[in-house]
Formats: sequence, C-alpha cells, structure tokens
Amino acid sequence: MQAVAIRTFGDPTGLEVVDLPDPNPERGQALIVTEAIGVGGVDSVIRRGTLAEYGFREGHILGGEVAGTVAAVGAEVDTSWVGRRVWGFAGLGGGYAEQAVVPAESLVPLPANMSAVDAVTVGSSSVVAHFGLRHARFVPGESVLVRGAAGGIGIMAVQLAARGGAGAVAVTTSSPERGSRLRALGATRVLDRSGDAGEASDDYDVIIDVVSGVDLPSFFDRLRPNGRMVAVGVVGGNPPADFGTRMFAAFQRSLSFATFSANTVTDSDRRAVTAESLAATSRGELEAVVHEVLPLEQAALAHRKMDAGEVFGRLVLTPSGQASK
Ligand SMILES: NC(=O)c1ccc[n+]([C@@H]2O[C@H](COP(=O)([O-])OP(=O)(O)OC[C@H]3O[C@@H](n4cnc5c(N)ncnc54)[C@H](OP(=O)(O)O)[C@@H]3O)[C@@H](O)[C@H]2O)c1
Repeated sequence: MQAVAIRTFGDPTGLEVVDLPDPNPERGQALIVTEAIGVGGVDSVIRRGTLAEYGFREGHILGGEVAGTVAAVGAEVDTSWVGRRVWGFAGLGGGYAEQAVVPAESLVPLPANMSAVDAVTVGSSSVVAHFGLRHARFVPGESVLVRGAAGGIGIMAVQLAARGGAGAVAVTTSSPERGSRLRALGATRVLDRSGDAGEASDDYDVIIDVVSGVDLPSFFDRLRPNGRMVAVGVVGGNPPADFGTRMFAAFQRSLSFATFSANTVTDSDRRAVTAESLAATSRGELEAVVHEVLPLEQAALAHRKMDAGEVFGRLVLTPSGQASK
C-alpha cells in the first residue's frame, strides 16, 4: 500500500511517499481502507522532529484521524464491523496511508450519506471543543471567547458554543475575511489576535484558548469575575513561565485556568460525542469546514499550506483511487 512517511525531520520536503506491506490488524484492532485522512497541526510538530523525545523517529507515518471502510478486524473484535463505513482514530500515527490500523474501540459508524471528508473534519475537533467547553463549566447564557478560532478546534468551539446558547461568542483571528466566515458560523464579535476589537472591550465568562504562547496572560484581563480559561492547544507555543503571577495579580476576581487534553476522555465518551457530532453534521446542524482536499501523495503540499498559515478549517488527504466524497 501507499503511505507517506517522514524521511527526514524538518520542512515538508522531508515527507516521502513509500510503498509498504499491507498492515494486519492485531487483537483489538480494525483495518480501515481509507477514504479520507485529516491533517492536523500536531502532524507538523511531529514532522519537524520537535517531539523526538516522545519516541517519534524518522520513518514515522503521520496521521491520526481517518474515515473509510473496515476491511478486517483482529482477535476479540466484533466481525460485524467488516464492510462498514466508519470514522476511526489511529492516535499519533499510521493515518497517512491507503490502509490504517486503529483501535476498534475508537470506531464510530458514519451516518448514511456522510462523506468521509466531512467525518475527519468534524470528528476529533468536536471532541476537543465539546469537552473543552465542559471543562470550562460553560452554561447557556454565558459569553465565550475562542482564541485561535480559524482552525478545526476553534471552528467547532464557535459552533458548539453558539448552538449551546452562549450569550455572545467572540473570536480572535488574523483577518476580516476570516472574521466574516466565523460570524457565519456563529461568532458575534471578531477580535484581532491581540484580543482588540477596535472599540470598547468586552469581558468573557469562558475563554477556550487554542493558541497559548507569550500573549496568554494578557487574556486573563478579559475574564469576568469567576471566569474560566481552558487551554486546549499551543499553536503559539508555551506561555511564559511566570504566567501564574498574572493570575495571582487578579486574585480578587476568582479566576480559573486549566489545560484540557482529549487524552483524558474515556473511549466511550469520545465515541458518544463523535457520533453525535457526525449525526449533527449530517442533519446540517454543524458545518464541516473543509479548507481543501488533496491527494495523499501531496501530503508535503498540505504541510506547506499549513505551515504558511493558509488553512481555514481542515485540510484532508484522500488516497488515489478515492473520489473526493
Ligand atoms: N487538547 C487536545 O486534546 C488537543 C487535541 C488535538 C490537538 N490539540 C492542539 O490543538 C492545536 C491545533 O488546533 P487547530 O488545528 O484547531 O489549530 P490551528 O489550525 O493550527 O491554529 C488555529 C488558529 O490559530 C491562529 N494562530 C496560529 N498561530 C498563532 C499565533 N502565534 N498567535 C495567535 N494566533 C495564532 C491561526 O488563525 P488566525 O491566523 O486567523 O489568527 C490558526 O488558524 C495544537 O496546539 C494541537 O497540539 C489539542
């Protein structure tokens, strides 16, 4: 089968198309013939070699989120999965391939008529956004700021907050054009990356932060008393080491800061939320914002686009022979 591996860590030219033996599912696993493969920011981080200390080596096959048809299952897996169209989560590798092995406990059936492209656009982003909002103890009527709203997680957080009855949904983004697109998805206020709206500032009950980075502490000032900030991503890098000092400076406002990782969500909760998000998308209640669909062998081009900051929503790869569905 064809796959895309990291030949050398660094820029996207280090990605190469390779021919590998077809994988076999082991106990507890399912083999998916892929129709669509999600491309995520973490793929770039692994490609650069930044996570080598976590065991990622050259030769690694990137990709976590796939959709397609189950071709085979390993021992102790219900054989009725075979032949079904599914969404599956390979974790941090193995997805950029014509066939991917995933834990069977990650499998979620695709709703009838749902495209594989839409499934990998909505699936894991909705899990992070849903549980990120829950971690922030968001309740209807509260105002929410989504910082770094133009990516898959932010777009889903905007939609879920709006759909969940937020009193206001503000976003940070880098251009008015992106701001307009986010308004169409439910945002009620558009701020620049610094959080400036160019007029009187609002405060928020909840901030879902995909960015972190050196500017994170300045957003503590945008929280209302009892406000909660949940960091769900680090696209801007880590916050400054003394960011807790800024939090303590606001002691009398009873602020909360937390990180949230979907790794702490149980498989059954992850499956339930993924299934609900796919169903809501197929009903037209959530929008799958696909930036572009590219052939699997153009994974390097996809990474160049991602590195250039061009992507609004999700980049998706499809193996050759698969129509863009
Ligand atoms: N918590 C979890 O369980 C979980 C799971 C998967 C991934 N993640 C993390 O989530 C992040 C990726 O999420 P994503 O794909 O939604 O994001 P993304 O598309 O990589 O970035 C989101 C947006 O942030 C803005 N941005 C980028 N760099 C910035 C900077 N330096 N300062 C301010 N804004 C910046 C950009 O929008 P504008 O240009 O419009 O500002 C970008 O579109 C990664 O950090 C990944 O590790 C977390």
